[in-house]
Formats: sequence, C-alpha cells, structure tokens
Amino acid sequence: MNQAAVSVIPPVSAALETEFSPPTDSVLWKKDFLLGVATAAYQIEGAVHEDGRLPSIWDTFSATPGKVLAGDTGEFACDHYHRWEEDVETIAALNVDGYRLSIAWPRVMDEHGQPNAVGIAFYKNLLQRLKQKGLKTFVTLYHWDLPQHLEDRGGWLNRETAYRFADYADLMSRELSGLVDAWATLNEPWCSAFHGYGGGHHAPGRADVRYATQAMHHLLLGHGLALVHLRRNDPGAQVGLVANVGRGTTTGSSAADKRAAELFELQHNNWIFDPLFKKSYPEALWSLWPGAKPLILEGDMDIIGAPMDFLGINYYFRTNVVSDGGHGYLEVDLEGVERTQMGWEVYPQGLYDLLVGFHHEYANLPPVYITENGTASDDVVVDGKVADPRRISFLNRHLAAVDAAVKAGVDIRGYFIWSLLDNFEWAFGYERRFGIIHVDYATQKRTWKQSAFLVRDFLARRNAQP
Ligand code: FCB
Repeated sequence: MNQAAVSVIPPVSAALETEFSPPTDSVLWKKDFLLGVATAAYQIEGAVHEDGRLPSIWDTFSATPGKVLAGDTGEFACDHYHRWEEDVETIAALNVDGYRLSIAWPRVMDEHGQPNAVGIAFYKNLLQRLKQKGLKTFVTLYHWDLPQHLEDRGGWLNRETAYRFADYADLMSRELSGLVDAWATLNEPWCSAFHGYGGGHHAPGRADVRYATQAMHHLLLGHGLALVHLRRNDPGAQVGLVANVGRGTTTGSSAADKRAAELFELQHNNWIFDPLFKKSYPEALWSLWPGAKPLILEGDMDIIGAPMDFLGINYYFRTNVVSDGGHGYLEVDLEGVERTQMGWEVYPQGLYDLLVGFHHEYANLPPVYITENGTASDDVVVDGKVADPRRISFLNRHLAAVDAAVKAGVDIRGYFIWSLLDNFEWAFGYERRFGIIHVDYATQKRTWKQSAFLVRDFLARRNAQP
C-alpha cells in the first residue's frame, strides 16, 4: 500500500462544524448514492432475557468483572427491542435512504438449531416497517454476539461453528427473503478474531495469536458457506461482508519502519482481503506470527473466495508505527493530533488512501459501501439541545474523502453513519457516545443532536432537486 498520499481533505474550519453543505459536484448530491445510519443488535436491543433469547458471549463477557468500563452490560442498552417503532420513525424522519442493523443469532435459534418464532417475528416486523417507510435494509448476520452454547463448544476455534453459522444464515434468509436489500455475513471478522481470540479485549476474551488466526479462518469459512444459502434463498438481495480497515503510516524514515507500516496494513487488511479476493493468506503473516498458521482443509479457500456483490468497509482512524527491530511493528502515538473521545486520531485522508489502495490492489474488488464511519464525543443535553460540532466536522471531512475516492475511480455506492443512537460501545460501555441521536439511559429519552438535524436538512435539499 502506498505511503505517499495526495492530500484531498478540506482543512479544518468553523464552517465544517456548523454546516452540512457538500460542494455542488460532490457524489453526495446524487440521489442514488445511499446515505444511511447503522446500529448493531447487542449495542441497542437490550431485552437479553426475553422471548427465548439465549445468552451470548457478550452477556457472559460483560458480566465478568473488569472486562467492560464501569461494569456496563447490554442488558438494557437502548431498549430498542421495545422501542423499535419509535426508532424506525426517527430513522424515517432523518430522510436517510437506508438502515444497517444486525440480527442477534441467540434470539432466533435455540440450542438445537430450531427456529425461535418470537425472535424471528421481531426482525420480520422491523424489516417490514422499514420497507413500508421506503428504506433500504442492510442486514448483518453476525455482529459479534455468538450464542454462548457455541462458545462452550469452542466457539470460532471449532470448525463446526462455521457450519452452524451457515445453518443460521439459511434459516434467516428463508424467513426474511424479500425484506432485505443487502445481507452482510460478518461484521469486522478482524475484531472477532483478533480482539476476541488474540488479545482478549472482546468476548469471548481468549488471548493467543494462534487462536486468532484459527478463529479468522473459521469465520471466513462460515462466511463462504453462508453465501450459498443467502444467494439461493434470497436471490433478489445483494450479498457481502463488512470489514474494518486500518491505515498504518510511519514517521520513521528507515526501510524497516516503512516495512513496519506495510505489515500493520497487511495484518489489518490483507489478512481478510487476500483470502476473499485472492483465495490465499498473505505469507508474510506467518513471519509476523511464527507458528500461527491455521489448519486449512482442501477446498476451504475456494469456499471463502466466492464472489460477493459488495464489500462493506468500516473506517475510524490511522495508526502510526515503527519497526520493532525484528519481524514486526510497534505502535507509537503521534503527538498533537486531533483525537476523538475514544482517543482515536481523526484522519480522513486515511480513508481515501485505503479506498484508492484497495481499488488498485484488488482487480476484483466489488462495489463498496462505507458501512460504518463516525466519532464518539462527550455529548450532553443542554436546554433540550445537543451541540456536537466535532462530529459534524468529522462527517464533513470523511465524506469529502469518500467523494475524492469516487472521483479517483473507486466504485463506492453509499455511506452509513455510525451510529443512529448512542449505544453500548463494547469494552467501553455507555460512556462513549457515537450516536447522532443522544440517549439518556436512565429515561431512554432520545434527543436529536445538531448533526442529526443537519443530515436531515441536507437530505431534504438533496431530495428536492429535480
Ligand atoms: C466498530 C464496530 C461497531 C462500533 C464501532 C465504533 O468496530 O463494528 O459496532 O462499536 O466500531
């Protein structure tokens, strides 16, 4: 991936914090460029014990002391399970074109793989209502909430889990056929594998790089097996996968530092994209992680590398690295850069660089949707209003990066803001607020932030064009 980038991002300015007015030649003005909002089941639904929902690995993990900031869990979250009708009204009132949500696997199937009719009805009703509102529906099957009973049998370290995932995809696509515009099998397999099984920061909290590579292989295998069912059961829908991507650069000038930045990106991006688009893992992974090559059976890579209709890309920040003096890299925080409430660097240029880089690197890259991008800020309600200038600035500049990538020839069809609502931010609990709608967790009151009003007004202007 290239290190030298052409700068395409407008400089920080006061106007970008208070207005949402893309340049007239921006792709954002095109009505067929999809603008949407995104959420995930465990982060918003709550109701973890209701209507036959089984425990997930995130229930177990978040109930374990010390794993999640302030001991927060998803038990109540945004209570979306009960408030979904109000939330759909909100989505429609935002004038967005689409909504990306995920299905909680533990809500829709029992331990024997039998359907849970009540859980399935929840998603059927939700999707029907979204369609009535004229919204495009992007549904992710696995946004990290593995049923705990499968983890008890090894989770993603067990090859069987890939087949159980395919059964789940089969059931969902039979039940919800015709209601889904785009199915994503997995959300961010890198996080599931690396944080969940390699570093232990996410559920199920296992920590060995050999686990991470084996879990990744089984996640990708599950993805490939699921595609077959999705295509057969719901032929009108698009099918794909959502990946988080990382931009790695170096302030070092040595060849070893430059290689370190390449290795960072290889580990974050090519680890997933090479199997999907080249049917092989990058060899350099095995010198970065000696002894961590997973068990791959004959035929697996053909299953994994089956064509997809779209690729979802989630982008948040850039990482600065230097050589560790051996085969790897060390992360070194840059001083004096703009950071979010998460501590993540605000670096829209990285999104452009990655999109253009993937476009050149993978000849068979399918059309792309930015399925997540957004920022956390410490937003508070004052006199019924929430000012979030840094989010507005963040969105403006990242959307400028997307527009620039489109102009550089990348086939990008849409962009989803993460997130519709403030929600359960995994290991960081409820403190980190990513929503364009503020949630008061004590009362469950939703309050529109300034960014939400600006998005709504921009889309009204866009839609009023001839
Ligand atoms: C991504 C996750 C999403 C959300 C954002 C901030 O890694 O997919 O659920 O937590 O980060």
